[in-house]
Amino acid sequence: MEKFNIAIDGPAGAGKSTIARLVANTLGFVYVDTGAMYRAATWCMLQAGISPEQESEVIALVRDLDIRLVLGSDGQQVLVNGKDVTAEIRSALVNSHVSQLARIPEVRHVLTDKQKLLAVNKGVVMDGRDIGSHVLPHAEVKIFLTASARVRAERRFKETEGRPGVTVEQLEQEITTRDRMDEQRETAPLIQAADAVRLDTTHLTIPLVVERILELCRTEVGGGK
Ligand code: CDP
Ligand code: CDP
Repeated sequence: MEKFNIAIDGPAGAGKSTIARLVANTLGFVYVDTGAMYRAATWCMLQAGISPEQESEVIALVRDLDIRLVLGSDGQQVLVNGKDVTAEIRSALVNSHVSQLARIPEVRHVLTDKQKLLAVNKGVVMDGRDIGSHVLPHAEVKIFLTASARVRAERRFKETEGRPGVTVEQLEQEITTRDRMDEQRETAPLIQAADAVRLDTTHLTIPLVVERILELCRTEVGGGK
């Protein structure tokens, strides 16, 4: 089978990383979680005591970072300058700062360059916000995954049993605030690429979404199983 690239974009909690990982496993492709790169940069910024408004400091810090996505025994691990930050980058503090860092054009430029490099040999499933529109505009298959904000919050709620006292309403508020920032930023906002296929997963199970994407791979590029 010829290799090709798959771009998956969409708002928070739409199922991008779950679906992208499963599609990559089925095809024997590499999964690249670009959100993890923005999250890792945000974690470092917070560790360094820098705020997102201090743009030149944030840019200098991001330029120097060595961010790696590696496949460990427990799935994908995120390493920054050799330190494993896989768990830390999912904190509420990172959630509430990541979109502010991600709106800085030069930060996007640095991370986009790294992402493009990861996909040059094809055989990559990459998820994020601007993959089909900016990072991989020539990806052979482009998906825009979405779901109602309520359902996305409920999915996150199921995952956050570890955050005592957090309600579905609070999570819905958090994700819609982040979505709005991602949609409204000037550089590479969250947007459905003109040639992307929109999949509303509100009422779709994970296996069904995976099957739809594999089917699309077969029809679009003759790839998939
Ligand atoms: O997992 P979730 O959908 O909540 O978020 P994520 O994919 O880990 O992305 C975290 C944040 O990184 C997003 O809310 C965006 O602000 C930013 N991001 C971005 O700007 N561009 C990307 N390609 C990926 C993520
Ligand atoms: O990466 P993104 O933020 O778009 O979403 P995710 O972290 O992959 O998915 C959020 C949660 O929704 C996970 O717990 C998935 O198992 C769940 N999910 C679901 O229940 N039904 C789907 N069709 C897709 C995801």
